[in-house]
Amino acid sequence: MTPHDTKICVIGAGTMGHGIAQVSALAGYSVFLCDVDHNVLSRASAQIMKNLNGGVKRNKITEEQRDAAQTRITTTAELDMALASSELCIEAVVENMDVKREVFGTMELHTPSSAILATNTSSLPIGKIAENLKDPSRVVGLHFFNPVHIMPLVEVVVQEVTPDSVRQAALSFVDRIGKSPVLVNDSPGFATSRLGVVLALEAIRMVEQGVASAADIDRALELGYKHPMGPLKTTDIVGLDVRLAIAETLHSELGGDHYAPPKLLRDKVAAGDLGRKSGKGFYEWNE
Ligand code: NAI
Repeated sequence: MTPHDTKICVIGAGTMGHGIAQVSALAGYSVFLCDVDHNVLSRASAQIMKNLNGGVKRNKITEEQRDAAQTRITTTAELDMALASSELCIEAVVENMDVKREVFGTMELHTPSSAILATNTSSLPIGKIAENLKDPSRVVGLHFFNPVHIMPLVEVVVQEVTPDSVRQAALSFVDRIGKSPVLVNDSPGFATSRLGVVLALEAIRMVEQGVASAADIDRALELGYKHPMGPLKTTDIVGLDVRLAIAETLHSELGGDHYAPPKLLRDKVAAGDLGRKSGKGFYEWNE
C-alpha cells in the first residue's frame, strides 16, 4: 500500500475526515475527500489549508510539502466516482449504525474487489457494520484521534475473519502516514473509547451533582494525574453529540450503569451545545 500506487477515499469531511485526508495527502497518497454537504467540503478545504500553514510556521513541514499535499486532495460530493479507483476507503460519517451500513453498501458496490474498507467509528462493532456485505473480511477499523494531524495513535481493529494481508496493509498504511498503531480485536469501544468514555461520563455526572466545576474537575485530572487534558475539555473537542452516540452504543452493547448517558449530556446535545464545533459545551469556545 505505497503512496504512489494507492488512491484513498475518505467519506465524511467533518471533524475527523478532513484530518485523515490531510495526513494521508502529506504522506504522498492521492485522496478523494467526500461529503454529502458542499458547505462541509468548503470548510474542510479551508481547515486543511489552515493546519498546513500552521505546520509550515512551526517548521514541521516545508512550503513544498504543504503545496504538494494540497494538490493531492480532491474534494467531491460524487462518492461513486471517487470509490471506483480507490484501494483504501476510510469512512468517517456520523456515529450511526444505519448510516454507516448504507455507506459500506455503497463502498462495496463501487470499489475494486481488492480495496480495503475501513471505518473510523469510535464504538460500533466492525463486524456489525460489515454484516450485510458480500465480503465482510475486507472491513477493518482505523480509529484516528482528534485532532488527527496532531494525535499519534491509530487503533487498528481487526475481526476474526480479517486475512493477514488486510491486517498487514492496514498496519503499513498507519506506519506510512507517521502514526503509531495498536492492534485491537473487534469489540465495542475497542481499547480507547471503552475506557475514556467511562471517565468522561463520570466527570459529567460530577458536574451534574455539583461536586466541582468543569474547569476544576479537568484541572484535578491534569495536575493530579498528569492527564494532558481533562475529560470535559476532551469531550468538548470530541463533540458532545459524538460522545452521546458512543455512550449509547456502549451502554446497549456492554451494559453497566457507568455507560448510561447522564441527563446533563442529553440536555446539552438537545440544546445544540455540542462543544468546540458549536462554540459552547462545558466551556465557551471563541475561535
Ligand atoms: P462530524 O459530524 O464532524 O462529520 C461527519 C460528516 O459526515 C458530516 O460532515 C456529514 O455531512 C457527513 N456525512 C453524513 N452522512 C454522509 C454520507 N452518507 N456520505 C458522506 N458524508 C456523510 O463527525 P466526526 O466527529 O468527524 O465523526 C465521524 C466519525 O468519526 C464518527 O464515527 C465518530 O464516532 C468518529 N470519531 C470521532 C472523533 C471525534 O473526536 N469527533 C474521534 C474519533 C472517531
